[in-house]
Amino acid sequence: MARVYGIDPGTSTLRIYQKGAGIIYNQKNMMAVLDGKKIIATGDEAWEMEGRTPANIEVVSPIRSGVLAQVKNMLAMLNIIFDKLGEEYGRMNGQEFIVASPSYATEVEKKALVDLIAECDIRPKRIRVVDSPLAAALGAGVNLRECFGAMVIDIGADTTEIAVLSLGGTVVSRMLKFGGNRLDESIIGAVRKYYNFAIGRKTAEQIKIKLGDAEHPEEDNTVALKVFGRDVVSGLPKSIAVDSLFVHLAIKEHLDKIAEVVFNMLEHIPPEMSADIMESGIYLTGGVSGIKNLDKVLAEMTGLKVYKCDNGSETVAMGLGKIAEDPDYDFLAEKYSTLQVEDFR
Ligand SMILES: Nc1ncnc2c1ncn2[C@@H]1O[C@H](COP(=O)(O)OP(=O)(O)OP(=O)(O)O)[C@@H](O)[C@H]1O
Ligand SMILES: [Mg+2]
Repeated sequence: MARVYGIDPGTSTLRIYQKGAGIIYNQKNMMAVLDGKKIIATGDEAWEMEGRTPANIEVVSPIRSGVLAQVKNMLAMLNIIFDKLGEEYGRMNGQEFIVASPSYATEVEKKALVDLIAECDIRPKRIRVVDSPLAAALGAGVNLRECFGAMVIDIGADTTEIAVLSLGGTVVSRMLKFGGNRLDESIIGAVRKYYNFAIGRKTAEQIKIKLGDAEHPEEDNTVALKVFGRDVVSGLPKSIAVDSLFVHLAIKEHLDKIAEVVFNMLEHIPPEMSADIMESGIYLTGGVSGIKNLDKVLAEMTGLKVYKCDNGSETVAMGLGKIAEDPDYDFLAEKYSTLQVEDFR
């Protein structure tokens, strides 16, 4: 029997699901490139190098804003990853792939993604594309066969996709061109402005994950974290304490923007569907769904039930896994994929 793999090539993380085995790869979608040519590290190992590399080594992300930006690099990296995974989980040659693509990707962008997988050394037999909000909903536990209306909010690294789904299709969707990376940038900016202190991307991400709160923390209920960086005035390494109120104020504007778009979409859907969504609720997913109280704030604002996924960053890959495992869901990949490449070898 053919092996089936699901691939979710996110801006920050690349996830691969293998039918029967679960998620077999979940690492940063990054590589370290020497002299612009040779890949010397991939995934989490490359991310470890970020901010510490000499001038001839660059840490790059081949996917930008959810869309393939560096084809050659991504191809070379996938070949390395597939090779390693093949040794551990069985050869991946000539098998089937289901790839998640943002719903807003153009046909050209989707085709580029399919062509990329098709060109890998493992020469897949069949490649199908699934809109990521559909995969996210499945991964979040929505029964797409019977659901007449549910909203999915997927807040990733560089994109936020908000979609209203019904009976296995997307009714309306909106995409915001920002996600967790923008929150990190705002934290870097605020720390620099208020403390005259420079921190790196990784530190900002840690601050966001540990202290980020969508709700205004009470003055006497804030949590603080000691962070390392460089004093901009003296130019010397130093540490400072940052607290959750400071972080809330730094990221609030972006979370408010997401909430505003959600509200606006709910106002514009047909009345019959409003009732269905009231019943089914909102599914909050993507890595940033882990921000404390984000589900609570959205629930208070909309008056709807908001379900937060346990591992928001893995939801799309888990949804692809459901399609791979359960023939009942095959129709999602067949019917709603815009591209199919079969036996093109
Ligand atoms: N517990 C957490 N709290 C807040 N943010 C988090 C948490 N865990 C991960 N993140 C953030 O989530 C983002 C990554 O989310 P995800 O893995 O869903 O993105 P992606 O699928 O790679 O990107 P995209 O969907 O935009 O292409 C990063 O910005 C990361 O810092
Ligand atoms: Mg994603």
